[in-house]
Amino acid sequence: MTRHFLEVDDLSPGELSTVLDLAEQVDPPRILAGKGMALLFEKPSLRTRNATEMAVVQLGGHPVSLRAEEVDVDVREPAADAARVLSRYHAAIGARVFAHAKLERLAEAATVPVVNLLSDDSHPCQALADLLSLRQVWGELQGRTVAYIGDGNNVCKSLVIAAALAGMRAHVATPSGFSLQAAAVDRARALGGEVTVTTSAEEAADGADALYTDVWASMGQEDDSARRRKAFEGFTIDERLMALAQPGAVFLHCLPAHRGEEVSAGVLDSPASAVWQQAENRMHAMRGLLLFLLGEEAT
Ligand code: CP
Ligand code: NVA
Repeated sequence: MTRHFLEVDDLSPGELSTVLDLAEQVDPPRILAGKGMALLFEKPSLRTRNATEMAVVQLGGHPVSLRAEEVDVDVREPAADAARVLSRYHAAIGARVFAHAKLERLAEAATVPVVNLLSDDSHPCQALADLLSLRQVWGELQGRTVAYIGDGNNVCKSLVIAAALAGMRAHVATPSGFSLQAAAVDRARALGGEVTVTTSAEEAADGADALYTDVWASMGQEDDSARRRKAFEGFTIDERLMALAQPGAVFLHCLPAHRGEEVSAGVLDSPASAVWQQAENRMHAMRGLLLFLLGEEAT
């Protein structure tokens, strides 16, 4: 059966832990020798594209990245046709899209794994790197609390689901009108996750082991930036919010970051910040995921 990775809970808790272990495997087998991975990007990317291309190279394979200007899936040809064709060249397909439904249609027609490289709905590869980073800092994840403070967006959703699978508590603070979709909270809770939802950044930060944020305006929402800057006043993760968290709390951000908006320069560049390690882990986590999806565990 072809395994796709469209959201973190496409993995069971045990499989998630296997992927994190594989991400740290020294001298990984070159399972992609002579093979490729097609990467479709409808939106910009620094980390995801570079991390994925390099993960493919480290497994002996060849990545082929295409921007929407080159191949506009569903415009030039239907997503299902593109998936059928790419499945005949490549061992896997990754796609960064606006509409999550497009990923589902790619996955439905593909005969190789389809990996969500970010959609308007979710960013599960980011969440894998987030867990890997926290596991490296703490040694284990179970029983820890991560507080997400900011926009209830794609990154927030995947983080909350990932936290549930890893046995972590999640505190989510958003301004009203920017909350995480209720279905995502329900989904995390159904997985056994303890999720607290609030509109108070202070309440979310209180006692947390890690504070996490993301941009206030995601790709495609740039025109709404000014309104959002106003609505998110008080949601900047700064020294004051960090002081409410546990002593030694970690700061995470998927990046790109805007110093002075969702995070103060002082926090982003402080010793508490694990963001560069987190960005590096995008590559290791992707390698672990591909080893899982395409390696022996997949059979
Ligand atoms: N964190 C992340 O996905 O970064 P990019 O948008 O640069 O890929
Ligand atoms: N929420 C952001 C994440 C970028 C990595 C966006 O979708 O633009």
